[in-house]
Amino acid sequence: MDFLNKLVLPLSPQHILLLHYMLMLIFSLFIPFISILSGGIFFSLYFRNRGLKENNHHLIKFSKEIVEVVTINKSMGIVLGVLTLLTSILVFIQLYSASAAYAITFLFISLLLMIIGLVLIYTYRHSLKFSDLFEAIKDFHTQDKAVESEIQELRRSNTNLSMRSGVSGFIFIFISIWMFVAGVTLPTYSDSMANKNILTILLSWLVISRFIPVLLIACAFTGATLLFIYFYWDGGKKDDDASYLGFVKNFSIRLTFVSIIILPLFLLIDLVILPNNTLSASVFVYTSLALALIFAAYHYLYVMIRNQNLKYTLHVFITLILVIVFSVVKDQLSLANASELRTVEMGAQYAEVMQKLTGEGAAPKISGEDIYKNICSSCHSFDHKVVGPPYKQTLPKYKGDVDKLVAFILHPTQNNPGYPPMPNPGLKPAEAKAVATYILKEVKKYE
Ligand code: HEC
Repeated sequence: MDFLNKLVLPLSPQHILLLHYMLMLIFSLFIPFISILSGGIFFSLYFRNRGLKENNHHLIKFSKEIVEVVTINKSMGIVLGVLTLLTSILVFIQLYSASAAYAITFLFISLLLMIIGLVLIYTYRHSLKFSDLFEAIKDFHTQDKAVESEIQELRRSNTNLSMRSGVSGFIFIFISIWMFVAGVTLPTYSDSMANKNILTILLSWLVISRFIPVLLIACAFTGATLLFIYFYWDGGKKDDDASYLGFVKNFSIRLTFVSIIILPLFLLIDLVILPNNTLSASVFVYTSLALALIFAAYHYLYVMIRNQNLKYTLHVFITLILVIVFSVVKDQLSLANASELRTVEMGAQYAEVMQKLTGEGAAPKISGEDIYKNICSSCHSFDHKVVGPPYKQTLPKYKGDVDKLVAFILHPTQNNPGYPPMPNPGLKPAEAKAVATYILKEVKKYE
């Protein structure tokens, strides 16, 4: 992917840090979104399938409402699912196109699958609206048998469409997240992963051990979001009957509870397998914070289950968002540590480019007057003796020959009896020339 290198700007270490901060921000939006998207679609499909089989209206209704909660609306899907991913790809190109270009390939594939997945999922969401319509006219009978059978036919094909688009949408999103996890994991392990094929990388323990916690977070955060939307947001949903809300409550609390049980284990595994060069005090600090918050969430959920209330709904929701944010920060810090050498290299390239832009090649912008005032004037004046002789007295013998004067300034020799030798002022040729030109011009005022 040579063309990528053309997109890469010279980066100073400060810019690189800034890009990592940007990634932290982007992933703190992207990961919660894909979490509830994937988790929500999965459970929506599950409940829809069960609801249709058992002819259970609660399940069918819940299935439709989950999708509406997790997909928010189309523009949110584009902003949170597509634009965030696209931005992170651009940042990755800046940071890793030279050292881990294949990581960027993974992210590209992830983006593509994400777009297709989102289209399918919005189709699914839409088709569920039609299902409601067909449900409403299910018992509609007319004399015209042809119309009746046509309606039945449409109903069947809509059910098929929704199931098919839902399932394939979920599969696309699922693989997209997997690819994403691989893409962001690779630069940390660039040495051991280079030259392996896609499947080997996807199935490697390194990638799997990071993919599983993402799936667990997806389930936990889906549960917490459903709790939050049904029982906290806007005072909670009131229009539904109690047994339905009871079912939603039990399901959401249990889903969250079960999903975060083994999450700490994966955070610890991550610490163990992270290469030493990626560890730093702050990586440990953020891991500990995430762990502490998981235990806090666990405690809140336990109390809610024991007391059969929903007092800590908001706490659980916010705690889980923070768990995601701290894990993202930890990952970025270890990624930044892993690429420290690369940062130094890029810093050197940056310095080189800046020098080309400002110095060499173009005429140096050195003012002879400044050099005279800062260096020479401590020993010289034009019209009277200081440490060295006055220019009025010594310069005329150069007869305006700049080069000859430059030669003297670069290598002073003893010329004037009664004076100590002039120490070498240590100027570069261009600087000597500038100051020589200046004093030759200036001395004319004293003739
Ligand atoms: C530390 C004091 C000191 C500084 C700084 C110094 N000079 Fe001198 N300079 C001298 C002395 C002493 C002499 C007399 C040396 C001799 O000719 O024996 C001298 C001599 C000269 C002469 C006379 C040379 C000749 O052929 O007669 C020139 C021209 C001159 N300096 C230019 C400069 C310029 C330009 C600078 C600044 C870049 C500078 N000097 C900085 C002490 C200094």
